Amino acid sequence: MPMMNPFNLLRQYIGNSTQKLINEEVFDPKTNSTLNKTPLQRPRPTGASQLYSTIKEIHNARLAYKPKSNRLAYCRNTEGVKAYRKAPFQKDVIDKCASSPFPGTLVLRDAVKQSMFVNDFWTHPETMRIVSEAVGVPLGVVMPTEIGHTNIQVEGATIAEMTSNLKVEPAVENLELSPEDRTYNPLKDASAIIPWHYDSYPYVCVLMLSDTEGMIGGETYIKKGDGEVQKVEGPQIGHAVMLQGGEVCHLAARAKGVKERISTITSYRSTLPNVYDSSNITNVRPYADTHSLYPEWTQYRLRKLRDELTQYLDKTKKEEDPAQERKNVQTLIDHQIDYLRQTSRQMVNPGFTQQVLRKYGRPSYYDAPRIWEIVQSLPEFDILASAADEERRWQPESIYWTDLLRSTETIRLGKPLQSVLGTAMWEKTRTYYMGDELLRQGLNEVFLDWLGYSGIWDLYCNI
Ligand SMILES: [Fe+2]
Repeated sequence: MPMMNPFNLLRQYIGNSTQKLINEEVFDPKTNSTLNKTPLQRPRPTGASQLYSTIKEIHNARLAYKPKSNRLAYCRNTEGVKAYRKAPFQKDVIDKCASSPFPGTLVLRDAVKQSMFVNDFWTHPETMRIVSEAVGVPLGVVMPTEIGHTNIQVEGATIAEMTSNLKVEPAVENLELSPEDRTYNPLKDASAIIPWHYDSYPYVCVLMLSDTEGMIGGETYIKKGDGEVQKVEGPQIGHAVMLQGGEVCHLAARAKGVKERISTITSYRSTLPNVYDSSNITNVRPYADTHSLYPEWTQYRLRKLRDELTQYLDKTKKEEDPAQERKNVQTLIDHQIDYLRQTSRQMVNPGFTQQVLRKYGRPSYYDAPRIWEIVQSLPEFDILASAADEERRWQPESIYWTDLLRSTETIRLGKPLQSVLGTAMWEKTRTYYMGDELLRQGLNEVFLDWLGYSGIWDLYCNI
């Protein structure tokens, strides 16, 4: 192959001439068939493979990783960033992947189904090696739908306006700061780009695709174990940070003073068997396409279960003490029962979720844990909550009543409860209600429905 400017190659690859190639090789979530293969093993039209191979080499060279720096650099100049931005900003990807779950925020999801580049960039063995080394645990991508989730803050009031402002070239122009912008405090101002939350998955890699020069805000805040809030500077353009976002409560501050803030996020879990996996799909369920989310969720959960059972069955060294052997297998089974229950409960009927969102509003869904904290201080709280649970007229046939009994028994035995917000002992002196149980499981829409039935929601609205 003649010597070529590597960026011309990238342009050829990502530009219109190869759009057909990208569309033809759509990831199939039903078979999960491409995730475990390296990109070069995948079938592609004759002539494309050599070009493709060259491009991968270019990209490998550009993954500038410094092991002890705690920051991952994807590319030190904007060429690599532009090459990446070109992939998710193609019309096809935007048309099929863009939504606006929070005001002023555009989100791209499921980009791997439209862009082979995004898929290959994140699943390349070298990328996987680097992210695993950075956190000191072997990582696997949770699900294809969680590859390259992109959060975009850009000018525009509607999805169409925001998408029309997306350019491959990162915006470098700084905006005039108003006096309010200068004193902007994301911890007091409600307009954080993503409010306080735990991620749905244990680990995330956040890659910055915008110029952060002159930016006010735009960083991540984390809540430490003692409740103190700490600011974590965001990565610069072309750099990435790893965050254990499933375990650490955090907030993404709105960026001021810049025309855009675009970051892309891929989520991971540990691939070590028998490591507790806190994953859930609470945050994404309201706006993700559940037709693809639920099958991918099932695939990943059942594969993990299968691998752990296989590992147990293939264990070469048998336990010699039969009593210990019985205890071991019972622990494994009990753990897998909990895991399967969580797998099943997370797949709430999408029609029900949407109906609750329409009735109570999307902000209430994300605000559910805070609403629950507030209503507990109301004088009528205990009377209404216990009446609702004693009558059991709310969804009388539902499996949640069995779940509530199981958790109540766990508390009586003085054991900790696993929850989407971490594992903790129940330390409150009051009764454990259905509201606690539903939030423990991250079933925010079911929680709002119960809250409405109990009459507590009406009280909350009148505060
Ligand atoms: Fe997050």
